[in-house]
Amino acid sequence: MTSRKILVTSALPYANGPIHLGHLVEYIQTDIWARFQRMRDNECYYICADDAHGTPIMLRAQQENMTPEALIEDMSVRHQADFASFNISFDNYHSTHSEENRFFAESIYLAARDNDHIETRTIEQAYDSEADMFLPDRFIKGNCPKCGADDQYGDNCEACGATYETTDLKNAFSVVTGSTPIKKETEHYFFKVNDFKDTLLDYLKSGAIQKEIANKTSEWFEEDLRPWDISRDAPYWGFKIPDTDDKYFYVWLDAPIGYLASFKNFCDKENAKGNDISFDSFWKNGSIDPTTEVHHFIGKDIAYFHTLFWPALLTAADIKLPTAIYCHGFLTVDGKKMSKSRGTFIQAEIYIKHLPAEPLRYYYAAKLNNTAEDIDLNLEDFMQRVNSDLVGKVVNIASRCAGFIKKKFDNTLSDKLADETLFKHFADQAETIAELYEARKFSQAMREIMALADLANQYIDDKKPWVLIKDEAQANEVQDICTQGINLFKVIITYLKPVIPEVAAQAEAFLNSAELNWSSVNEPLLAHSLNTFKPLLNRLEKSAIDDMLEENKTLAEAQQKAGATPANAKTKTSANIEPIKETIEFADFEKVDLRVAKIVKADHVEGADKLLQLTLDIGQDKTRNVFAGIKSAFDPSDLEGKMTVMVANLAPRKMRFGVSEGMVLAAGPGGKELYLLSPNEGAKAGMRIK
Ligand code: MSP
Ligand code: ZN
Repeated sequence: MTSRKILVTSALPYANGPIHLGHLVEYIQTDIWARFQRMRDNECYYICADDAHGTPIMLRAQQENMTPEALIEDMSVRHQADFASFNISFDNYHSTHSEENRFFAESIYLAARDNDHIETRTIEQAYDSEADMFLPDRFIKGNCPKCGADDQYGDNCEACGATYETTDLKNAFSVVTGSTPIKKETEHYFFKVNDFKDTLLDYLKSGAIQKEIANKTSEWFEEDLRPWDISRDAPYWGFKIPDTDDKYFYVWLDAPIGYLASFKNFCDKENAKGNDISFDSFWKNGSIDPTTEVHHFIGKDIAYFHTLFWPALLTAADIKLPTAIYCHGFLTVDGKKMSKSRGTFIQAEIYIKHLPAEPLRYYYAAKLNNTAEDIDLNLEDFMQRVNSDLVGKVVNIASRCAGFIKKKFDNTLSDKLADETLFKHFADQAETIAELYEARKFSQAMREIMALADLANQYIDDKKPWVLIKDEAQANEVQDICTQGINLFKVIITYLKPVIPEVAAQAEAFLNSAELNWSSVNEPLLAHSLNTFKPLLNRLEKSAIDDMLEENKTLAEAQQKAGATPANAKTKTSANIEPIKETIEFADFEKVDLRVAKIVKADHVEGADKLLQLTLDIGQDKTRNVFAGIKSAFDPSDLEGKMTVMVANLAPRKMRFGVSEGMVLAAGPGGKELYLLSPNEGAKAGMRIK
């Protein structure tokens, strides 16, 4: 059998926020599918990247006084650590801010332009004349035109549910500066999607896309498709459009192209190592390799981009269309939309501090199917399901048998199966279960596997080895029964391995077996020595879930106060006091080197609207240069000569304007309300604060 060559992708997460349990539905779903393909001896490459461009990332970098490059670098490291902690097995993780991506974005655009699929038109857009930038809808807020609720976004009201145009907002203000947006004309570039109408309609009918999604996308075809606006004006964080001075590709133009870029980056690295992976065989139109496939996994919110614009762009550049695009639904927590204020926007980083990853992988698998229906994480149900299925049923089979085999039989299995028919029944499910995985009917696959686990436990219950063991004459029978039990366990773990790879690896170590694979389910371990059994998974405790929710909520509140909106935006400053952070050890506090500092010089920074540049004397040979985000509250001339407090051993940080060598300490919510810390009279520059 020739193995399939399969390229698998998940959507590229935005580089402006951390990974949460909602995202993980997708990465876990894709990872299970990719691991399954590898276990079937297919060549399967799972690739992803950070989606690193766009206005939100540009503004967030400004807000944090970082360059966008530094921000996306930090975020990429964090994202990859999160994914690794949930055992997501990417073969490559790249960035849309990469040379490969610039190359493909430019060449796809140029192919479209040279074949007359691009047009330009002057449009009117909201403009922030204080920040000198055009405003995406998300960056305009105001009062709902219907109910008057304040602080509403430009498209719909969270208070009354009304939908409207951004221009209908009352008292509209720019989230960036708080100023009132004006209208300004600008020339934009459009991609004429309608030129590809026929190809797209064929593609939607081809079976590459789930029916429900294809039908929805088809509705757009009842009229001609409007040209898609693919340009944004400077200042914008992205790639410049070829042959323009100040026009950039809209982030959604180069985002899916990131799939190509990440795969190209992977192929180049692999080929340099001497492995032969052909980029062209996956993407080149008319390529004669029928064994290559490309499968995109995405959430339903981005189906439109992937089922319409993406295939149109590929067609414009004469690139092969994806084999399939799979849409999943959204995660709700305890039946409700994830919410910051309820603390149910659970961050991956926080979950993993309190709970192991694989129970969540199993729970998602038990809920996921091949439709775009939403799935619910009910935390009570999560705990019960994992404790009953994984711990109570699956792991239990091994722990019930392993003890006897170790104590009485020197960890050695019998040379025959006690019930070959039962074993064959287990092994015979391999194709059925494989078909369910292949079709992404994971919940059904989990049901089949748990039915086998029930059978295995029932077998042990019937045979009662714990009774037989009391009679020396029946020792051999106990060995046979436990050998049977352990071999049934082996088949079950093989079927579960795409879902719980870490538990499976521990099981492989216990079984002292080769890597479990679909092709090895028929081969029982006989006259074989085991390694000593260690518990593979512990029961989930309610207290761990509660602690996790608590920490997540505290963090969300602190972040909300720290201001998801910039310090100088015209929002109400809250007098609320932040909750106290988690307890730290004295040793951790000791690491912070706080010093009395004298501000010898304070200056404005050209081009920075939040920073002041401070020169600080802390009694060393050299003064320190610090960029502090305190411009909203202080006039530099008032600061010169003042004593304050600085963190002297903070790692230097490269910012757009230079290197910042420490931090000064200030209190308050931001804006005008900032209070610089200063010591009592008499303190000298350089004194350590303890
Ligand atoms: N950057 C775009 C994707 C570009 S792909 C060329 C994006 N990023 S995202 O970070 O917002 O989302 C990444 C993926 O996670 C998307 O497929 C999205 O649907 C999915 N999810 C984000 N929140 C989710 C839930 N609450 N539930 C399930 N999936 C969710 O969109
Ligand atoms: Zn309203």
